[in-house]
Amino acid sequence: MTDKERLQKVIAHAGVASRRKAEKLITDGKVTVNGKVVTELGTKVGGNDDVEVEGVPIDKEEPVYYLLYKPRGVISSVSDDKGRKVVTDFLPEVKERIFPVGRLDYDTSGLMLLTNDGEFANKLMHPSHEVDKVYVAKTKGIPSSDHMKQMKKGMNIDGEYLKAVHSKVMSTDSKKNTAIVQVILHEGKNRQVRRMFEALGFPLDKLKRERYGSLDLKGLNAGDYRPLKPIEVKQLRQLAEKSVE
Ligand code: URA
Repeated sequence: MTDKERLQKVIAHAGVASRRKAEKLITDGKVTVNGKVVTELGTKVGGNDDVEVEGVPIDKEEPVYYLLYKPRGVISSVSDDKGRKVVTDFLPEVKERIFPVGRLDYDTSGLMLLTNDGEFANKLMHPSHEVDKVYVAKTKGIPSSDHMKQMKKGMNIDGEYLKAVHSKVMSTDSKKNTAIVQVILHEGKNRQVRRMFEALGFPLDKLKRERYGSLDLKGLNAGDYRPLKPIEVKQLRQLAEKSVE
């Protein structure tokens, strides 16, 4: 590094945290530059400065990438002050400081990526990226094809415009008055699938993310994880780079 760069960018580049998390680490006083705590977000650092996060020098870790089949009843975080299970509890052998790429609700199961590569995570989470996220849900009540069309047209919910790329009813159980539906999203707004179905009058019984880009959960049970293959990391990077202007 020859030119000086903003501290939060240097931390994210080193793969310690996403840019936003890096900013929080700085303002929380967890970052030192040349042994001094720095809480100013604008601080610039260069190659000769020693940056430590929570006492650990940055750029010590190789980037790592994992796929987890998140079970229901788990928080998409690295720690929880109420002591509930968090996604990183399922990867105890991983010593790097990984964190989840985006989030799934506590009650949602399915495919989740974890990494220590902040730039990679930022790219995938950028709102303009167009990675398919495929969800399968069980609805209480049976939505019609008009309801499904409405999801593709887009819906204004609590001042937010929410839209599905694709949505269809896969099967119905008229005795139990339930349906299995598939929804594909590009965006990932908070509780998006649940909010869209709730707005249409169909609360969800279960929600699972089955696919993320070309990745699926094949061969994994809830709670299992595996490292991503280099080709899978490359493909995700290409997908994210294609759509981030
Ligand atoms: N949509 C939701 O409602 N919840 C999730 O966890 C993911 C997408």
